[in-house]
Amino acid sequence: MGPAAAGRPPPGGARVRGGGASAEACRARCRELPTPGHASPVTSAVLESGLALLAPPAASGETFIPYYTGRIIDILGSRYDPDAFATVISLMCLVSFSSSLAAGCRGGLFMFVHSRLNLRLRRLLFSSLVHQDLAFFQQVKTGDLTSRLSKDTALMSRLVPANANIFLRSLVKVLGLYSFMLGLSWRLTLLTLLESPLTMAAQKVYDARYQAVLKAIQDSLAYSGEVAREAVASVETVRSFGTEEEEAQRYKAALAHTRHLKDRRDLERALYLLFRRLLQLATQVLMLYCGHQQIQAGLMTKGGLVSFLLYQGEVGQYVQTLVYIYGDLLSNVGAAEKVFEYLDRVPAVSTDGTRAPATLQGHVAFRDVSFTYPSRPDLPVLQGVSFELQPGAVTALVGLNGSGKSTCVALLERFFEPQAGEVLLDGEPLRTYDHRYLHRQVALVGQEPTLFSGSVWENITYGLEGCSKEQVMAAAQAAHAAKFIATLDQGLETEVGEKGGQLSVGQKQRIAIARALIRQPSVLILDEATSALDVESEAAVRAAVLSGGARTVLVIAHHMATVEGADHIVVLEGGAVAEQGTHAELMARRGPYYSLVQRQLAE
Ligand SMILES: Nc1ncnc2c1ncn2[C@@H]1O[C@H](COP(=O)(O)OP(=O)(O)OP(=O)(O)O)[C@@H](O)[C@H]1O
Ligand SMILES: [Mg+2]
Repeated sequence: MGPAAAGRPPPGGARVRGGGASAEACRARCRELPTPGHASPVTSAVLESGLALLAPPAASGETFIPYYTGRIIDILGSRYDPDAFATVISLMCLVSFSSSLAAGCRGGLFMFVHSRLNLRLRRLLFSSLVHQDLAFFQQVKTGDLTSRLSKDTALMSRLVPANANIFLRSLVKVLGLYSFMLGLSWRLTLLTLLESPLTMAAQKVYDARYQAVLKAIQDSLAYSGEVAREAVASVETVRSFGTEEEEAQRYKAALAHTRHLKDRRDLERALYLLFRRLLQLATQVLMLYCGHQQIQAGLMTKGGLVSFLLYQGEVGQYVQTLVYIYGDLLSNVGAAEKVFEYLDRVPAVSTDGTRAPATLQGHVAFRDVSFTYPSRPDLPVLQGVSFELQPGAVTALVGLNGSGKSTCVALLERFFEPQAGEVLLDGEPLRTYDHRYLHRQVALVGQEPTLFSGSVWENITYGLEGCSKEQVMAAAQAAHAAKFIATLDQGLETEVGEKGGQLSVGQKQRIAIARALIRQPSVLILDEATSALDVESEAAVRAAVLSGGARTVLVIAHHMATVEGADHIVVLEGGAVAEQGTHAELMARRGPYYSLVQRQLAE
């Protein structure tokens, strides 16, 4: 399973000929560009070592500045020596300049690493998501996935470079500052050490609360996103029920919940900062008092005290930063955990089969298949289902709503794996077939076909490369779509809109049929694929598609006209095969099929 399996198809012939829409041009450009997030290991190593090398000089350079400030005060305070003054000023300029340069480069490199890491994470996560089994997507909300992809990857990509950067800088600073302070006065240094444990304890309490509220905010944001997305995606339903106001209220309530959480977060932060400032202030007052006594005793100069106070202000800040990084690590680890959970998730339906025979008969057999959906494990949907699809024949699957017809199709498409029994293709289990091969040989036109935004051409050739215009036209013809495509203003190049929204349902169904036919599949599945077609189109599609030829066809339809013409009919009832045979046989038997037909006739 390569990344190509997940991607949209490369451009087809007509797209190049037709010049293409701007969206497609952009997509094509993106394909040509090297993936920005994909830094080579060598580049990453160079960037990271750059960060590591630049952090110490930038930080240690800055630690000299308070020292020189103290020296200047002493020079100004005693007998003024212009040479000493000039030397100190020049040294200060040199140190400031070089440490600023190193800090700037370090910051730039850090941003560089951060954005590369972010894109790379997103690419890997999306690739992992798109390969997951369908049960995963039914259990996880879309809002959740998009928030993982955008927000959590952003948080996570900050985690490593930002923390490494800040940690390194703060550590060098703390060590440097303390050694200067010890040199100036070990008594005062001991005093400053009293402040740190108190700050750390406060930070610990604050971090635990902050983390909890942060998680609640993230969930709340994901929920409000979900509310908005759902309303926009189902705007027609909203309009037809006149529930715009209710939806607006729902969104408002979701936002109010987020605001409430954010208010709590901000209030707690304010209280925490207040406590920290008070503690700092108290330490500073104590320090001044003790410093004054030391000067009186001749143990320290006035400039020395100024330097010491400057150092002390700074060192507190950096100790706190070190503690903060720990908290930040914790809060981002939550995001990273989720990202890793999805990155490492192994799809329940494996795609590592390798079988790809040159010729395929298209014989399908369901052998005693039992199945329950993972989302509802206590509801058996299929129970001991066995039937066969013969090559070149049309088999119809009939039954009431919810009898399990589409579920059989889902198993044949390997959306899920049955809990018991097997589905065989040409006598071999489906899982042994190569993923791409299988989906080229077994084509499905679903109950609710989904088109992608893009042109009609792109939709018909979805997942295929190098299709000729003749092939596309032949498929469109067989799906009885050629006529209406010709009436579109740009023919095959016409954009169909998001999810094909600019087409009628019947037109969408016909494009979906053409999309399946162009693959010339060995097994063709039509799950209510012609339900929205008018009489003329349905007859035409039935003639073209169901006449079958060499291919195996499985058709699910409520229309008896479609079912009657099938070579074999399988009747499902409550997830089990009730009976099977030809139309004439089943009618003669006067069983469930007969009653189905009678009920339809009665309508
Ligand atoms: N994704 C799902 N998760 C849980 N249960 C499901 C899921 N899809 C279908 N079901 C349940 O499985 C049963 C069979 O559904 P299925 O879609 O196979 O019916 P169907 O025969 O195709 O019906 P219809 O004629 O309405 O298309 C139903 O009871 C349904 O509620
Ligand atoms: Mg169905």
